[in-house]
Amino acid sequence: MTDVPQFLGRNLFDLDDYSAAEILYILEAAKGMKEINLREYKKIPTLRGKTVCTLFVENSTRTRMSFELAASRLSADVVSFEAPISSLGKGESLQDTIYTLDAMGIDLYCFRHSSPGSPQLVHKYSGKPVINGGDGRHAHPTQALLDIFSIWEKLGSLEGLKVAIVGDILNSRVVRSNMIGMRKLGASITVCGPRTLMPTGIEEVYGCRVEYQLAEALLDADVVMGLRMQMERMTDGLFPSLEEYSKYYVLSKDTIKYAKDDALIMHPGPMNRGVEILPEIADGKHSIIVEQVANGVAIRMALMFLILGGKA
Ligand code: CP
Repeated sequence: MTDVPQFLGRNLFDLDDYSAAEILYILEAAKGMKEINLREYKKIPTLRGKTVCTLFVENSTRTRMSFELAASRLSADVVSFEAPISSLGKGESLQDTIYTLDAMGIDLYCFRHSSPGSPQLVHKYSGKPVINGGDGRHAHPTQALLDIFSIWEKLGSLEGLKVAIVGDILNSRVVRSNMIGMRKLGASITVCGPRTLMPTGIEEVYGCRVEYQLAEALLDADVVMGLRMQMERMTDGLFPSLEEYSKYYVLSKDTIKYAKDDALIMHPGPMNRGVEILPEIADGKHSIIVEQVANGVAIRMALMFLILGGKA
């Protein structure tokens, strides 16, 4: 028997598959990776000979780039699948795409798709470990891990922290994965947004508190996270206008005063400045939004290292 968590060959579909102890182990590993990222020569040979495929069938800037940087900093070969110029456009199925890529010797897939559950299909077709880079509205576990890491690094622990997450809760995969992960580490979560963007029964399913008034949600919060209005996923005109949303829910100097004075300000990006957050807050002294992006590389390095059995 061993107390050391085992990651070799595992998938990361969402954080419900990972225990609190395993999440903390990943955070510790990411701390070491961050140290490498601060060196002048940001590369170690640990995954030499391994091949990582970033297979993104939905738009991304930071997730995809950080997966690719993470793999290359660990000396893995990286192949980047460009969906818009791939044979998917000629009608090739996802299944045949995976068989084709697999024939070239992929060891790990980092995958994004608009369909919830599709990362499981990639694993089924390839038999290779898959890290979910975001599947529709369902899950975005590496974003949650980098968010958790960013808080843990600043405040030492998530135990007993009050985290307020504000915005388009209905369409957000980030909020779902964060609620699972942060609650495992002892934080309490309040979600806030318009009623039309709040999933029914979210309190029971995720063990969070729901507030519709921003001031109530932010009261005494240690951490405030804004979420993007996901216009591309809204098909039903769920609120009158972005101006209307902003009037009640924007994070500004006027509204953030209800949180603790030193509350950390976070946003997974991309941001709609002026809609869910004003520049005075996004670029303010308590904002860790840029650090979240940097920490994303360290978290993804740690995951690849652990899943592919890198040599320390
Ligand atoms: N936070 C996030 O997932 O950003 P991208 O869509 O740019 O990857």
